[in-house]
Amino acid sequence: MPFKTRITEMLGIEHPIVQGGMQGVGVAELASAVSNAGGLGILTALTQPTPQALRAEIERCRSMTDKPFAVNMTVFPTINPPDYKAYAEAVIEGGVKIVETAGTAAIAEIWEMLKPAGIKILHKCTSVRHSLSAERKGVDAISIDGFECAGHPGEDDIPGLILIPCAADKVKIPLIASGGFGDGRGLVAALALGADGINMGTRFCATVEAPIHPNVKQAYIDNDERGTNLIFRSLKNTARVGKSAVSDEVVRRLAQPGAKFADVADLVSGKHGRELLQSGDLSKGVFWASMVQGLIRDIPTVKELIDRIIAEAEGIVDQRLARMHIRA
Ligand SMILES: Cc1cc2nc3c(=O)[nH]c(=O)nc-3n(C[C@H](O)[C@H](O)[C@H](O)COP(=O)(O)O)c2cc1C
Repeated sequence: MPFKTRITEMLGIEHPIVQGGMQGVGVAELASAVSNAGGLGILTALTQPTPQALRAEIERCRSMTDKPFAVNMTVFPTINPPDYKAYAEAVIEGGVKIVETAGTAAIAEIWEMLKPAGIKILHKCTSVRHSLSAERKGVDAISIDGFECAGHPGEDDIPGLILIPCAADKVKIPLIASGGFGDGRGLVAALALGADGINMGTRFCATVEAPIHPNVKQAYIDNDERGTNLIFRSLKNTARVGKSAVSDEVVRRLAQPGAKFADVADLVSGKHGRELLQSGDLSKGVFWASMVQGLIRDIPTVKELIDRIIAEAEGIVDQRLARMHIRA
C-alpha cells in the first residue's frame, strides 16, 4: 500500500483515488471497476430514472465488487426537482456507507437524512468558504474542485494550484483535490499541496469500462488542454464542457445581449447529452470535459490507469524528488 492518507483510512480503500459522480457515466460497470482497482467508485443517483432503479443499481454494483463504493447525490437548481429524499432513502436502504454530495445549499437536508444512518459524506464544492460551511455542518470530508474541472467550477475561477493549498490551510477534515487530475504527477502534486487524495472525472471517462461511445472517448484524446468551453457564464451557473461545434454555438448565443437559458435549452438538454454519450454523435448536444484532456492519450482499463498512476507517483517520490533533494 504505497500511499496511506486520511482518505484511504477513512474510506477503507487501498489508493487515494476517487471517481467523481458523473451523470450518465457513473453506473455499476465503472464504479465497481474503480473500487476493484483499489479506488473509490461512485454510482450517480440521478443517472437512474427512479429511486427503485437506484436501489437495484446498488445491488448490481455490490454483486460486482466486495470493496467499498459510494453514491453521488447532486442537487441541481431546476424547476421540476426529482424526489431527492426518496433517492436518499434508496441509498440508506441499500446499505451504502459513503455518499458524495454536490450542488445547491438544499443538499443540507439530505445530509441530515444520511448522517443518522452512519453514512460518511464527501461534499464536493468549489470554494474554501463553502468547504468551511460544509465542515461546520458536519460532513466528513471535502472534495474541492478547481477551475480546471469538468462540470461546475463555480464563479471564482481559482485553479487548483491555489485553491487546494488555500483549502488545506483552513479545512480540518480530510481533503480531496479535484479538477485536472489524470496521472501520477497530479497525485503527487495534490498530496504536496495538502490534499489527502484526488478525485477524477474526465480521465475515468476515457477508460474501457466507462459506458460511453468510443467516438466520445476519442474526443477526449483528440482535444488538448484548450479543448473545453465555459458555458452559462452570463447565467452565473458556469459549466465546463468539451469544445465542439455545439458548445461553440452555446457560447455564441449566450454572448448576445439579453440572452437567456431558453435560447440554448435545445442544445444543452440532459436528454441530448445522454444521446450523445450513447450514440457518439457529437452534434447531438454537449458533453462534460475538463482541461485534463491535454493529458489523456489512451483508453486503458480502469485497473491499468490506477496502477499506472500509483506507480508513476511512487517513482516521482522515491526517485525523481529523492534525487533532487540533496541532504546536507
Ligand atoms: C461526464 C461527467 C459528468 C459529471 N456529472 C456530475 C454530476 O452529476 N454531479 C457532480 O457532482 N459532478 C459531476 N461531474 C464532475 C465530476 O464528478 C468531477 O468533479 C470533475 O469531473 C473533476 O474534474 P476532472 O474532470 O478534471 O477530473 C461530471 C463530470 C463528467 C466528466
